[in-house]
This record gives sequence, C-alpha cells and structure tokens, in this order.
Amino acid sequence: MHTVVETDVLIVGSGPAGASAALALSTYGVRNMVVTRYASLADTPRAHITNQRTMEVLRDLGVEQDVIARATPQHLMGNTTFCTSLAGEELGRVRSWGNDPLVQAAHELASPTRMCDMPQHLMEPVLVNAAIARGTDFRFSTVYKSFVQDDSGVTVTVEDRLRGDEYSIRARYLIGADGGRSQVAEDAGLPMGGQMGVAGSINIVFDADLGRYTAHRPSTLYWVLAPGATVGGIGAGLVRCVRPWNEWLIVWGYDVTAGAPDLTEEYALSVVRQLVGDDEIPVTIKSSSAWTVNEMYAETYSAGRVFCAGDAVHRHPPSNGLGSNTSVQDSYNLAWKLKLVLGGEASPRLLDTYTAERAPIGRQIVTRANKSIAETAPIFEALDGLSPQTPEQLWANIAARKDATEAAAKQRAALREAIAFKVYEFNAHGVDLNQRYTSAAIVPDGTPDPGSARDPELHHQPSSRPGAKLPHAWITSGTRTLSTLDTVGRGRFTLLTGIGGEAWLRAAEAQPLDIATVVVGPGQEYEDPYGDWAALSGISDGGALLVRPDGYVAFRHADATADAEPLLTDALRRILGHG
Ligand code: FDA
Repeated sequence: MHTVVETDVLIVGSGPAGASAALALSTYGVRNMVVTRYASLADTPRAHITNQRTMEVLRDLGVEQDVIARATPQHLMGNTTFCTSLAGEELGRVRSWGNDPLVQAAHELASPTRMCDMPQHLMEPVLVNAAIARGTDFRFSTVYKSFVQDDSGVTVTVEDRLRGDEYSIRARYLIGADGGRSQVAEDAGLPMGGQMGVAGSINIVFDADLGRYTAHRPSTLYWVLAPGATVGGIGAGLVRCVRPWNEWLIVWGYDVTAGAPDLTEEYALSVVRQLVGDDEIPVTIKSSSAWTVNEMYAETYSAGRVFCAGDAVHRHPPSNGLGSNTSVQDSYNLAWKLKLVLGGEASPRLLDTYTAERAPIGRQIVTRANKSIAETAPIFEALDGLSPQTPEQLWANIAARKDATEAAAKQRAALREAIAFKVYEFNAHGVDLNQRYTSAAIVPDGTPDPGSARDPELHHQPSSRPGAKLPHAWITSGTRTLSTLDTVGRGRFTLLTGIGGEAWLRAAEAQPLDIATVVVGPGQEYEDPYGDWAALSGISDGGALLVRPDGYVAFRHADATADAEPLLTDALRRILGHG
C-alpha cells in the first residue's frame, strides 16, 4: 500500500540547515517533519567554527547553553599557527576568532554571545534532540526521491531504507537542506552560478595526544607549509583540533585532475606523520574521506513551495568557518516567515523575501571563502616556495629567513605581512556580523546608507537602520542584566520604544498580529544604566523600532508621532506582503 503521511513543513536533511529549520519551526509551534538519508547524524567533525551570530540564533532558540557545554571555548581557539610541521619550525601566528585583545573587546561589545568551536558531530545532536523534544517528527534512513507540487502543497516521494519501500509525504512546504549535492535544489531547477570541483581535498580524522606541540599556543587551526602543501586543497596543509588536544582532523590537498589518492590507512598515516612531524607519537586513524573545493551559489533559493537552505544553495571551502553558520542563519531567516504564512498572518509573498535576503549573503560568503584560499599563497611566496621546488629548496628558503642579510630581513618582513593578512580569514568580525537585508520585508526609513567607517569585512558596525540586525546593548530589568537581543525573537515581532513612545505602544496593541513591546527608560520595565542603548538605538526616546522575529530591524521611526498607528499598520502591511 502506498501510504501518504501529512505535515506542514517537510525538511530533507538533518545537517546544520535542516536541524536548525526543524528546531526553529518546532519552537514556533509549526508542525514539521525531517527525513534524513542515514541511520545516524554526522559521524565526523566537519564544520566547527560557530560565530557570534549563530550563537545569537541558538540563544533565541534556547540551546546556547547546551552548545557552550559541549564546545571548545573561544580562548582555546585563537593562535592560528603557521609551521613546517607541529614538531617543526614555527613561521608565525595570527591572533584569531576574537582572541586579539582589540577584537575581543569588539566581540564583547557586539553581542551577548561568544563564538566557540562546536564540531558538527556534536552540534547536530543538540539541534535535533531539542527539535524532537519540541515536536519534530524525525525519520532516519529515509531518502528523498522526488517531489511534485501544486497550488496547495508538495507531494514528496521518499524511500524507507529499512523496509525498502517508498511512500509519499504531503506537506504545505518543502525545505531542501540536503547539502552540497542537493537533489531537491536540482529537481527544483534552482539556477546555480560558479563551479564545483575547483580543487581536491582529503579529510583524515585521527586520535593522538599532540598537547606537547599545541597546548602552549592553543588554537583550532595549525597550518603546515611543507612540500606538496600547495597542491589542491585549501591553501596549505591543515591540522585542525577537534577536541583539545587529542582528537584531530587533517585537511590535505590532492590534484583534482588526477583524482583522489587511494585512501588506505597507510596513506592517511603518512600524511599525519608528515604534518605532525613526530613519528614517535601513537596515532589512531579513525576515518579518511575525499571532497572537493567548490565555488558555487544559487541565484534563487526557492521554486514555488520548495525552499533550499545551507550547502544546497552555497557551496564553498571551510575557509572563514562560514559553512554551518550560514546554513543555520538561512533556516532562521526562513522559519518565522513560514510560520506566519502557514498561520495566515502573512501573505505567501513574504516567502519571496527569503531569496532576496539570503542569496546575496550566500554569494558573498562563497566568494569570501575562496578568496581566503588564494590569500595563503603570499605566505609561500614570501618563502619563495611556490616556484618549482624540491623539498630541499623549500627547507633552504625557510632556513634562509634566519640569516643576517638584507635579503633575509626582506623575507622576514614579507612573511610577517603575509601571515598578518590572514586576519581576513581568521578574524573577519564584519563578515560574521554585518549582514544587511534589502527586501519587501524591510521598510526603508529614508536615511542614506552610512557606509562603513572601517573595513566592513574586519569590523562589525552596529546599526538600527532597517535591514540591519538589532544592535546589542546591555540593559537591566530589576536586578537582571540582559541584552537588547534577549527582548526580541522567540518567533514574535517586537516594538522597542522609550519614554514618550505611548502612541507606538497603542499602535502595536491595535494590530491583529501579536507584537511584544519593550520600553526602555528610567522607571520603565527596562533601564539603560550605561547609556549604551541610547547611543546605539538610532531613535529618540519617543521613536520606535519594529524588530522581526529573526532580530532584524524592519521599520524605524526616529521620533514620537501622533501618526504611530497608521505608520505601523502600513509598515506591517508591507512587511507581511499584504499590500
Ligand atoms: P549537510 O551536508 O551538513 O547536511 C545534508 C543533510 O542532508 C545530511 O543530513 C544528509 O544525510 C542529508 N541528505 C542528503 N541527501 C539526502 C536525501 N536524498 N534524502 C535524505 N537526506 C539527504 N565545513 C567546515 O567549515 N569545515 C570542515 O572541516 C568541513 N568538513 C567537511 C567534511 C565533510 C565530509 C563534509 C561533507 C562537509 C564538510 N564541511 C566542512 C562543510 C559543512 O559540513 C557544511 O558547510 C555544512 O554541514 C552545511 O550544512 P547543511 O545542513 O547545508 O548540509
């Protein structure tokens, strides 16, 4: 018998994109189901850098503390080291992931959260467990095969790998979160730009106690410049810490035109030995797999009732640590829109803003990640290590930097400069936090884009201009200190105002939509003892910000006005796609 199962949102895939879509939808009370190909969640570490924006999303979804409890903390992430092997010579370091004192201050000012290192095989269970606990219907060993859609929904054929048969799932909407080889994106005909298979790479997961080479310069990433390290791959050899200091993942390139090498245990061990540089340390190889560096992004993230998120629509190397972060943020952008459309509070037109808002981000991060690979080359150039070489030549060039000659001084300066430039990969705070949206779900307030006072890739620039994420400021409520971000989210719109903003409060109450209200000021529910909010809010006390469930400012009015109700009503009509 061909069974038909029903749900409101069917999600294909349980990676960061699918799991966070399920978690957000279940948190918002939307009926959803996940089907995923394998009998288990990710069994290798994969993506790991978890940036402040993702931590803010996880904070709103109520799992921030679960992630912190399992993750490697920020202070153990940030001495990105360049060396000839772990046991060999060190060539230099970049203070990374917010561990530069100045950048650390910027991180503390930008967000109530801290970034951390949360390997994907630890992250997925946190997201999936919470999603299931809140109502997600989760089906392992279930493979998406095809879909057909009509005016009222999508019918998806799946294969149950345990029973070996197929059945249908009828959903109002389908989310393809099925990763870099997305069948859903292909079946939906999403147009892709860029190129797959730009370079070849191998991941080797292994156990070894490497504390003697790493604990004194704690880091997530140790980059190895050695003969062969510029072939394919992600710029150089990489020894990545999975758990300090005895679980590791090596990334090593191969010539994609020649095909992946035979991934025997002997081969994996030889790569580990070369990059670690100490043959005495016991090593247990856990797994090896080959993958390709991709540079591809979709121009459109949806077709009718089918939406794609994560690697399904942006495929790029791990540089800058943007993979799972962007995937989680895609789903967070989509989930509240689906909730409002399914609940009849918004027009389906609201869903068009998903592509308008997320596709430019996808294109930007694919480009950034691939650029970061290219920016490793100057380090080799400083060592003259890109020219046709023998290993002896490369070692001689590396040794030559110690000479007391003018040429060696020049080489040392070039090396310092090239390593310092990697800040664009390892400390790009602006790339993480400066995402701005332009779409029909953002009502411009007529103010010009102030541009960026500093390099927008490196520095976060808070703004309350519509299309920006609500700025973080520490405020108080009685004895409690909380972030302005803690006053918004949880699937609701929030209106923030201050003393003199009563007309905005009445306007919010008059709307058919459930809108939370926040008043900040002396004697109000929230106070601003440091004056931080006054400096960042971008409105006068009687003005208002309307913040979407995903923490983005959708509407701003700088001052008190008697026209609050028609202004807010009109803004919501536009945001929700009713006008
Ligand atoms: P993701 O690939 O995580 O998940 C896709 C999901 O869809 C999986 O659950 C899969 O089983 C399921 N699926 C696929 N087809 C299906 C079908 N037909 N039916 C049902 N289910 C289906 N990034 C990084 O920053 N650093 C790193 O070191 C690595 N390393 C790495 C190694 C390997 C082996 C991979 C595959 C990927 C990485 N990545 C990485 C990339 C990183 O993992 C990636 O950016 C995110 O996981 C993207 O999350 P998604 O949820 O979009 O896809």
